[in-house]
Amino acid sequence: MALKTLIRKARANQMNSRFYVTTPIYYVNAEPHLGHAYSTVVADVQNRFHRLIGDETFFLTGTDEHGDKIVQAAHKQGLSPKEYTDKISQKFAETWPLLNIHPDRFIRTTDPQHIKTVQMVLQKVYDQGDIEFREYEGLYCFGCERFLIERELVDGKCPDHKVEPTKLKEKNYFFLMSKYQQWLIDHIKANPDFITPERYKNEVLSFLKEPLDDLCISRPVTRLTWGVPLPFDENFVTYVWFDALINYLTGLDYPDGENFSKFWPAANHVIAKDILKPHGIYWPTMLRAIGIEPYKALHVHGYWKIKEEKMSKSLGNIIRPQWLVENFGADATRYCLMREMSFGLDASFSHQSFVTRINADLANDLGNLLSRSTTMLHKFRQGLVPDEKGIKGPQDDLRNYFANLIPKWQELMTDFQMHNALQEVWKALNMANKVIDTTAPWQLAKDESQSDLLDDVMYCLMESLRLSAVLISPVLPDAAEKIIRSMGFEPETEFSPQGLKWGRLGNGTKVEKLPPLFPRIGPSKKDAKDAQKAQKKSKKDKVKDMAEKEGSKDEFITIDDFQKVHLRVAEIVKAEKHPNADRLLKLTVKAPEERTIVAGIAEHFSPDLLVGKKVVIVANLKPVKLRGVTSQGMLLVAKDESGLHLLEVSSDTEPGAKVS
Ligand code: MSP
Repeated sequence: MALKTLIRKARANQMNSRFYVTTPIYYVNAEPHLGHAYSTVVADVQNRFHRLIGDETFFLTGTDEHGDKIVQAAHKQGLSPKEYTDKISQKFAETWPLLNIHPDRFIRTTDPQHIKTVQMVLQKVYDQGDIEFREYEGLYCFGCERFLIERELVDGKCPDHKVEPTKLKEKNYFFLMSKYQQWLIDHIKANPDFITPERYKNEVLSFLKEPLDDLCISRPVTRLTWGVPLPFDENFVTYVWFDALINYLTGLDYPDGENFSKFWPAANHVIAKDILKPHGIYWPTMLRAIGIEPYKALHVHGYWKIKEEKMSKSLGNIIRPQWLVENFGADATRYCLMREMSFGLDASFSHQSFVTRINADLANDLGNLLSRSTTMLHKFRQGLVPDEKGIKGPQDDLRNYFANLIPKWQELMTDFQMHNALQEVWKALNMANKVIDTTAPWQLAKDESQSDLLDDVMYCLMESLRLSAVLISPVLPDAAEKIIRSMGFEPETEFSPQGLKWGRLGNGTKVEKLPPLFPRIGPSKKDAKDAQKAQKKSKKDKVKDMAEKEGSKDEFITIDDFQKVHLRVAEIVKAEKHPNADRLLKLTVKAPEERTIVAGIAEHFSPDLLVGKKVVIVANLKPVKLRGVTSQGMLLVAKDESGLHLLEVSSDTEPGAKVS
């Protein structure tokens, strides 16, 4: 263990001048959701962390815009692929700043520079004999946009998209990946940090135990034109992996760009496990064929799930980053994403777990420490940090703890253990809160002979806050900046290696009081009462239930009667509590025009989980005012013993579609 740490440190010292981080480039067939946001926040946090320790950094993200799926999605919206990709790509680009994410470059696979780079690479690999024309028959998953092998299927279906793959037979171009199989095995074994966490390295190695198939990289233009034309055969386009992966090179202006020579040796890719095979196998073998050194490291994380299902557009259970930011703010969202998922493992999203995390860690631990410490500094030392006295006392624990914490934090962050790094910082915050309780500065202030001890306690508290702000700045940049500025420092000078050292306060540093950084999130007293009320079913409700049961003896109607009711598919775009009624939700739906529907389902569904769902509504119900809000239609639900269930339709149904 000690040796491993030493080797890693030696390597880190050699390499710590540059850091290049990438996210997957996201398909534009869906709008950004929490899963995409997680990878992109990880990359931003890592980028900020490396800048903080003095590295020169480059951060790339973008969108993947070619392929069947994109053309289908464009047609559904009545747009050309170009119009459609422009629209959705922009949504991704606009989402990231909301989360305080600032990539150095946003790349699109439809950028002319990228297309040129892909063609140049294809020609090179073709000329050296690593691409061959062959007939192939296999099982193709349109969701993954690749051929699957039997071994990958679960109950005959693609495990990610839950659909049976289609049998396809086609003549196509193949990249002779199998030529590089043994080289890849040797490279992975010789470089233990090439794919991390370890379980994913093992997964790739176990895959490589079987002979590799060669990789199909083309589509005939008769079937698909939305791809990059092969430079050596105009009847074919390349798309998906041979196109998409090369973005990591175009992003650095490969082959001649200065950024390429500077940053490629420090390339770190962040992905989720869904695209492990393309990144762990296709990409290094492609790089080998092109004649480029492999990337430095692949960092693989797990899935965000909702009720045990992967969050994804095709399963229709997504949480929008915009919604998270509106509800929690950018900093708190970033914090929860980093803290609630152990990098590499799956995590479950729930609104409540985020609220609990924010209240406990941000409002209580950090918020209380900041407000207690600065209030006392103002009360006992006129807001000026006294010089450090370095005397014995409970505050000594803080000095000692930080001396060990800084290298430990750096190692954890380097290893993408953001959740553990944060946990270690929170131990410091809790220790500081305890120091306040045990030293009771308000007592010390009453006794002149304790003046030095009070100085030292105040010094240690304020210095702990300053250092903690530096350590959390990659994850909570806004809060950290506010704390640093309240002490008269600039983030540019503090979020740097010099800011990482204990002992920068003193000499009468003036500290301004700040308003609470993270106000507690409900439930307010009113909400709590309402929740209680909702639990106790009123007599009236019970009577209504009985009546409904009676109603299950169906009466016949004619087809003409039924046709009077216009049922339509509606997409829920916004869901919020009704301002005047606890049991009602106010839904904004698209069907296809936007309208408001008031639904009595507040006790059964949390508003955030409704957004994005495609449901069925009665579209021609006469509008009525329900507690002051006009409802233009009715939402259909099914009711059974366990409660209410939405009548959902498959997520690719157009809003406004007639239900008959
Ligand atoms: N376009 C390809 C990637 C090409 S990279 C050269 C692609 N796009 S994607 O839009 O499907 O994005 C997949 C990535 O989005 C995952 O690898 C992960 O980074 C992120 N996530 C999507 N859903 C996710 C979860 N439910 N949980 C965690 N991350 C998720 O694949």
